[in-house]
Amino acid sequence: MTRTIGIDIGGTGIKAALVDVDSGELVSEKIKVGTPEGAKPADVAAVVAQLVEQLDPHGSLPIGACFPAVIIDEVARSAANVDKSWIGTNVGELFERATGRLVHVVNDADAAGVAEVRFGAAKGVSGLVLVTTLGTGIGSALIYNGMLIPNSELGHINLPGSRWQTAEKRAANSARLRRRLSWTRWAERLQVYYSTLEMLFSPQLFVVGGGVSKDYAEFLPLLELTTPIVPAMHFNNAGILGAAALAPFSHNK
Ligand code: BGC
Repeated sequence: MTRTIGIDIGGTGIKAALVDVDSGELVSEKIKVGTPEGAKPADVAAVVAQLVEQLDPHGSLPIGACFPAVIIDEVARSAANVDKSWIGTNVGELFERATGRLVHVVNDADAAGVAEVRFGAAKGVSGLVLVTTLGTGIGSALIYNGMLIPNSELGHINLPGSRWQTAEKRAANSARLRRRLSWTRWAERLQVYYSTLEMLFSPQLFVVGGGVSKDYAEFLPLLELTTPIVPAMHFNNAGILGAAALAPFSHNK
């Protein structure tokens, strides 16, 4: 059994667990804490250090963390729904200093995508799999024959409506809640989104993640697409699992 620590950092909460990255199972309880007020880098790093100490006291397990931003070589390059001070921050280095361990950081949707391809709904699917997470924003992961093409950011394409808006403004789960859309009304927006993605990418499979994917029976059957579309298997654990699977061993860092 190969164990690592997976940490999923979001705008409202931070979740962490020990993961067996051979089987893709959580091997500890999942610890959840609120993201510190303002979600500033130093405060988040302090929480990360505390979670790691709780899960693996005085140990040295490596850490995989995921974060809702474009991440290139451990550095955050965007901040759509988090504090702007993250832009330019070397998140990997920040967490390595805070924890004294090896850390690899990836985009949150990329982590969810890796989890679904290795351990979930897209396991064994060849060709292009497009994983989207419907939450506060919309995250995306493109995975071709099991290989992640990182930072696709397909939540930021523009969609037509009464006016043009980014997909995540129009069709994220937060838009459904904010506008109190019925499942049917929301599905109309999702239809435009997934038809556009289908036209642009012709994937083999869409996987829909994010907390709301638990309610997939309310909206996925309403979509008319040529591409099969299925709910994620790991719902809210996908970020932890995928991040943990990408934790730095000598072969991936
Ligand atoms: C961010 C992405 C992130 C997604 C889901 C978007 O606003 O730009 O990087 O993956 O939200 O959290």
